Amino acid sequence: MKLLHTIQETRDEIARVRDEARVIGFVPTMGALHKGHITLVKTAREQCDFVVVSIFVNPTQFGPNEDLAKYPRTLESDVRKCEDAGVDLVFAPSASEMYPEGFDSWVEVSGLTDVLEGATRPGHFRGVTTVCAKLFGIVRPDLAFFGKKDYQQFVIIKNLARELGLPLTIVPVDTVREHDGLAMSSRNVYLSSSERQAALALSRSLQLVKRSFDAGERRVRTLQSAAENMIEAEPLAKIDCVAIVDAETLGPIETIERPAVLLLAVRIGSTRLIDNVVLG
Ligand code: PAJ
Repeated sequence: MKLLHTIQETRDEIARVRDEARVIGFVPTMGALHKGHITLVKTAREQCDFVVVSIFVNPTQFGPNEDLAKYPRTLESDVRKCEDAGVDLVFAPSASEMYPEGFDSWVEVSGLTDVLEGATRPGHFRGVTTVCAKLFGIVRPDLAFFGKKDYQQFVIIKNLARELGLPLTIVPVDTVREHDGLAMSSRNVYLSSSERQAALALSRSLQLVKRSFDAGERRVRTLQSAAENMIEAEPLAKIDCVAIVDAETLGPIETIERPAVLLLAVRIGSTRLIDNVVLG
């Protein structure tokens, strides 16, 4: 496995690989790798000949009051995990390599980025779409793998690729969970043990709504209230967003007639967690 830090070295390596006409799979990450990330890598390993992982804590997707400075950085163990999972190339650039002095080119998806997560985190998705577009240009993957854990991100990147005619396929991967249901996240390390317990309010409310939906309930207001009540019953939890929207357009709906998604963003202490479940 190769570990590269510069864009030029990575371009050169990719050019060699593309000459052999191999299928390139790409998993962009911000590091602090857990089993969720590794599942993306293993899915890429199954579907591609050459697997690239990027590890880059992207400053442009963090708001001024967010956790950029304290975001976990564990490059050495991440590199080991990549090697064990059969990755061919890790691209781990510095911030100045990705954003040199004077950098001022942005990729923006409108509409989808202003609602839900985008409404509470202004500018977040512009950072995500810009870094992903840049990484796609450097790695030139045939397939890029995104977790459904970040459902809105996945939909935005899929639209970006389609609308700009990028020559790659965005592949969604199901959310990987701890045994008790908590969605794996690099941010789970921030939780104290009582917060870790309280965080189960998210997955429990998703399960509750899913059961109710499976039993035939289709009214959005009823399902949303069930989720809200369950989360509000947990004293350490504070709701940022509970919304059931169309699974493709992320637009508001009143009754579930086509696939929908319940999206949650909840603060547990000072840690903001997100989770979701697709309904239908
Ligand atoms: P990061 O949070 O490191 O996540 C990298 C990828 O792993 C994303 O596609 C995310 O959805 C996926 N992932 C995270 N937790 C998961 C879980 N429990 N199960 C399945 N997949 C999971 O998302 C980002 O980084 C950044 O925004 C990035 C796309 C790298 C751009 O900077």
